[in-house]
Amino acid sequence: TQKNYSEQYRPQIHFSPKQHWTNDPNGMVYYNHTYHLFFQYYPKGSTWGPMHWGHATSPDLIHWKEKLIALYPDSLGYIFSGSAVVDSNNTSGFSKKGKIPLVAIFTHHDPKGEKEGTDKFQNQSLAYSLDNGNTWTKYKGNPVLRNPGIKDFRDPKVMWYAKEKKWVMTLATKDHITFYSAPDLKNWKQESEFGLEIGAHGGVWECPDLFPLKVDGKTHWVLIVNINPGGPNGGSATQYFVGQFDGNKFTPVDTKTRWLDYGPDEYAGITWGNTGSRKIFLGWMSNWEYANQVPTEKWRNAMTIPRDLVLRKVNGELLLASVPVVELKNIAANVQSTASGKLPAQCMLKANIASLSDYSVTLSNSVGEELVIGYDKKTNQYYIDRTKAGKADFQKDFKGRFVAPRFATTKTSDLTLVIDGTSVELFADKGLTTMTAIFFPNEPFDRIAVKGIALKQTAFKSIWK
Ligand code: FRU
Repeated sequence: TQKNYSEQYRPQIHFSPKQHWTNDPNGMVYYNHTYHLFFQYYPKGSTWGPMHWGHATSPDLIHWKEKLIALYPDSLGYIFSGSAVVDSNNTSGFSKKGKIPLVAIFTHHDPKGEKEGTDKFQNQSLAYSLDNGNTWTKYKGNPVLRNPGIKDFRDPKVMWYAKEKKWVMTLATKDHITFYSAPDLKNWKQESEFGLEIGAHGGVWECPDLFPLKVDGKTHWVLIVNINPGGPNGGSATQYFVGQFDGNKFTPVDTKTRWLDYGPDEYAGITWGNTGSRKIFLGWMSNWEYANQVPTEKWRNAMTIPRDLVLRKVNGELLLASVPVVELKNIAANVQSTASGKLPAQCMLKANIASLSDYSVTLSNSVGEELVIGYDKKTNQYYIDRTKAGKADFQKDFKGRFVAPRFATTKTSDLTLVIDGTSVELFADKGLTTMTAIFFPNEPFDRIAVKGIALKQTAFKSIWK
């Protein structure tokens, strides 16, 4: 048997659990110099099953240590997605001996209720930890927020709204968002609803997030809403809205639909709590169209590279840009001033472009398969083409050429590609356009050909060695 993390297609610089299935990142919170990452996890197989919260921790967002499973299914159901907060003021009353509680707020999904055809099988519940997230106790009064009769009622993201000393929960409620508030994480009252007439509606709304970000000293609010299906390149994807939040209501600046990542393989992305003014985003690096079928065996699916989110003003519009976290430098190995010929399996490729015109970056292997990444001036689009990138017979739409608009209007441009054997993450124009795609070549892509730009190449060391 093969050692964990040395299997074919296994990411070396992205988090994936040692074995078995994962989907959404959950409960991301920074506490006591540690980044906590929980994740939708099925410990008995490598396809989706009764959900648990797996757990991993990191000092730097890059090196991860997998911990014991944090939350197991119980009589109220499976443990679906949600968030975690540091309850410094012990508003929940969970503290003992002065210890600060970490509180997880998650969806209990009752499979029996679902089968019986009731509409009330998803409810919100709590669990807490008094030992830095190592062990978790479920609250006896669960669920704390009961379903009023909306089938899809899930993925609570909770934040502290300091101005009014209350917790605000952003909840995905079928085809819109419902905001709730509570002084104590237990007694939730509805504040408002958002989104019935705005945004993309090609699928169900899931995994939302709400947080403030400053531009030029002014605070704006970002509302992230994941949607499945209905993404810009098919299947699941992450849309966002920019606006104002007053503790009761979210008011968007306009009604445009915007996407955080235009690639096929970033989903369920949300941000870490308790990181101050820094906002760090992590997504699941797959798509519900084929997440259960991708050609891996003992494990299935991984997370994206953590990304810093920044709001940027472009032609009077506020856009959400994302860039890979600087902590990636912690695994940098040798640097090459130009990338050409040989391609390390794990690397970052970077270009500064003085005058933007057509360019392409082609990764290939010994059996003639290739992945093409580039920019097309005529359409003003970035693209990732995986039509000839290897295995694709597991799902009809996996093969494809995916495009994303360019938002920047400058003559100059820049490009960052993060490559990890079977995935590429593209960040162009300081992250204004972002795309993520996975692929499964029959032999490793070990060569690179670059046209139209010059790329600096930094090889990465595996985080698992
Ligand atoms: C999103 C999602 C969530 C749900 C979880 C179940 O990918 O469907 O809405 O809580 O996955 O695993």
